[in-house]
Amino acid sequence: MTKKWMYGLLAGVMVLSMAGCGNRESQNQTAGTTVESQLEESEPVSEPVLEDQEETTQETGTDAMETEEQETSSENTETAGSQDPVQDPESDTLIAYFSWSGNTEALAGMIAEETGGTLFQIEPAEPYTDDYDALLDQAQEEQAEDARPALAADVENWDDYQVIFVGYPNWWGDVPMLINTFLEAHDFTGKTVIPFCTHGSGGFGNSLSSIESGTQGAELLDGFEVAGSSVDSARSEVTEWIASLGLTQ
Ligand SMILES: Cc1cc2nc3c(=O)[nH]c(=O)nc-3n(C[C@H](O)[C@H](O)[C@H](O)COP(=O)(O)O)c2cc1C
Repeated sequence: MTKKWMYGLLAGVMVLSMAGCGNRESQNQTAGTTVESQLEESEPVSEPVLEDQEETTQETGTDAMETEEQETSSENTETAGSQDPVQDPESDTLIAYFSWSGNTEALAGMIAEETGGTLFQIEPAEPYTDDYDALLDQAQEEQAEDARPALAADVENWDDYQVIFVGYPNWWGDVPMLINTFLEAHDFTGKTVIPFCTHGSGGFGNSLSSIESGTQGAELLDGFEVAGSSVDSARSEVTEWIASLGLTQ
């Protein structure tokens, strides 16, 4: 616990010093940069996790669920193959995401609205704890063990999808290990892969390396990252990003 509080303090100083420009600047850079340069800008794996910030993030996620826009997004959050009016039945775009506290899910909903793609929620066979502190420890252990938690379900008709968005929260500077399970369970040869991520302040961290190595044979396009606390105001940036990829429905 002492360590976590130290991390919290350190990250608090970092966040205060970056307040008002850090996250937004980072987002703008992301929209216009290549995957390679995003990798170069990655932060260290052992970056601190700010508990206070996470609480804010989760509150924001909860609050966001109460807004009309977020309700729309969450209505769109169906698993692959579901009937959703936003989804274009002809679309070859899949938006696969994992989300623990709702931020990445809200972002995935926006991407679905922009692209007409099909949402697929990546879920663990054994649900993660609801306890934030316990989750921090569990996620760190999974990373240390290079674990591959089992998936609850698989994508139907994988071969029908050409463009695959892969979304996740930054967990300890990398993808949650469940994302590695998902990547290794699928053949990405010839597909187009686009990562997206929400975070406390660490951007993609080192996660793009994991995405790159887990999607061999795919073309990797520019991703999008946003602080979890800013997801609900990121819609116009999402619209611009999707347009820049030529994927607006
Ligand atoms: C286990 C765990 C580890 C985290 N590690 C980081 C981190 O290293 N860097 C960071 O910026 N945010 C970190 N966060 C914050 C999340 O990335 C952020 O709150 C994200 O928006 C949560 O997305 P979700 O609501 O889709 O689960 C962590 C959160 C959790 C639960």
